[in-house]
Amino acid sequence: MCGIVGIVGATPVADRLLDGLKRLEYRGYDSAGIATAVDGRIERRRASGKLIHLAEVLQGDPLPGSTGIAHTRWATHGGPTTNNAHPHATGEVALVHNGIIENFKPLRDELTARGRTLESETDTEVVAHLVSEKVEAGMAPADAVREVLPRLHGAFALAILFRQHPDLLVGARLGSPLVVGYGDGETYLGSDALALAALTQRIAYLEEGDWVVITREGAQIFDRENNPVERPVTISGVTGELVSKGNHRHYMLKEIYEQPIVVAQTLRSYLQRMEERVTLPIPDFDLSAIRRVTIVACGTSFYAGMVAKYWFEQFARVPVDLDVASEFRYRAPVMEEGGLMIVISQSGETADTLAALRHAKSEGQKIAAVVNVPTSTMAREADLLLPTHAGPEIGVASTKAFTCQLAVLAALAANLARAKGRLTPADEKSIVRHLAEAPAALNGALAYDESIEAMAHSVAAARDVLYLGRGTDYPLALEGALKLKEISYIHAEGYAAGEMKHGPIALIDDAVPVIVIAPSGPLFDKTVSNMQEVQARGGRVILISDYDGVQAAGENCLATITMPKVHPLIAPLVYAVPVQLLAYHVAVAKGTDVDQPRNLAKSVTVE
Ligand code: G6P
Repeated sequence: MCGIVGIVGATPVADRLLDGLKRLEYRGYDSAGIATAVDGRIERRRASGKLIHLAEVLQGDPLPGSTGIAHTRWATHGGPTTNNAHPHATGEVALVHNGIIENFKPLRDELTARGRTLESETDTEVVAHLVSEKVEAGMAPADAVREVLPRLHGAFALAILFRQHPDLLVGARLGSPLVVGYGDGETYLGSDALALAALTQRIAYLEEGDWVVITREGAQIFDRENNPVERPVTISGVTGELVSKGNHRHYMLKEIYEQPIVVAQTLRSYLQRMEERVTLPIPDFDLSAIRRVTIVACGTSFYAGMVAKYWFEQFARVPVDLDVASEFRYRAPVMEEGGLMIVISQSGETADTLAALRHAKSEGQKIAAVVNVPTSTMAREADLLLPTHAGPEIGVASTKAFTCQLAVLAALAANLARAKGRLTPADEKSIVRHLAEAPAALNGALAYDESIEAMAHSVAAARDVLYLGRGTDYPLALEGALKLKEISYIHAEGYAAGEMKHGPIALIDDAVPVIVIAPSGPLFDKTVSNMQEVQARGGRVILISDYDGVQAAGENCLATITMPKVHPLIAPLVYAVPVQLLAYHVAVAKGTDVDQPRNLAKSVTVE
């Protein structure tokens, strides 16, 4: 997945394209490039690595032209080299692409058989050549693109620049998002409203199969049958300000620290504090007929879903299926009448999760979407939008979105339980009170930042790390391991504490730190037994528990982290903080790029 910006402008565009790319770097940062139409030719500047390198190239070799396209890349086909960087160009056209052209091999063979030379290893370049062939044969830009689109299989958002037509761009979308922005005497294309935030707030979202010709005067949009269509222009709430790190060294740390505020902000939409009732943003959405819940998500959002499974089953007694989105669609899932699919996604654009949503919708399921970007595709396609109010999350490793997702899911589980007649008013009051305590408890957890930082070096030297937990602490163990892997590049695994004896115990020695997440409570003794099995084999344990837990079992540990004592309902939110902070400080100790770890991207819009 990659980020795209295009401008048909009244003044030079290179700086503004670069600014748009800065807002899209969360989509990938393997390479970047810009092309403009200048004096009857196409000019390109490209650089491998992060955007700063492209900025340096542009400084040394500025790019004139008031119509252009730009791209920040997350490599799929072909390494992250300058040669594979977009835009891909022939003499006649230049093109940027987000997605994957799945049939690029036969198309490539066909093009080479016709004597064309392709320069890169990408799937994208074939599209540039196919369009170019039509243009070279005398076709107008719109006709050329219209003829080529049906030949492309896979997913794409495209923006195409034409040498002989410096007054227009053509865009197209299938499976990857693309928006049109309307300015004053200028028109834009972008992967999302954020890309265009500094240029305009007036945004039209293209629908699947749409393609568009933009000029300075506006946009002509066509659907997949090539009929002219109108897409409504909405006013995006995304501001032009680039989010700053404040006083923090990294976005990730800032976002970890924002959690008490954003969780409180999120809960406000789901709790009626005075009445001590849980509520939904669409209060009359009927949950009483829901007989089964299917939760689908990716990455950290998946682990939020895994925690929620415990809550839905415990409170509402509704069976829950849980799947990573990339597996869900391809295993012929059984979806009966009365099913609710819950998709969970920070970005609301993750391709696998979106595909699962669409599949479930086509099978008659009701769709609830827990998303952080309210203008995202998932938000727009869901029956029940359940927003998290985490604000923009910039760090690639998700933190505040996770705890906000948990807050929403806990409230949804309680709403479902009430709708199913399984929640007494007293239980509902108790859930509201405990959830309302979460922001203060998160603050309490943040107070241990320094002591977590002090112990980070003992993990930073490790090659492998194991995380153990039971019940809702099991998904947290998985999330802890994911965070550590993502940003410190240390191999880490999360395991259900009781399952350790069936395999991972063979890994235990004094070089493998074992992080045990065990708040005191009904499962504490069982988890401590598993912890002792580790210690009996020379394993070094870091115990994360509350005061009682640390007193009871902290004695022979390498280190302990003491959390505030909280109700089990909000423990997953609170215990997320130490696992996030530990991963953060280990990564800082190792000197990795915390906010933009290698090979990753924040929004994964390819399957
Ligand atoms: C990427 C990000 C993760 C995120 C996952 C799901 O892998 O690096 O931080 O959890 O995508 O993203 P979503 O936007 O759907 O929550």
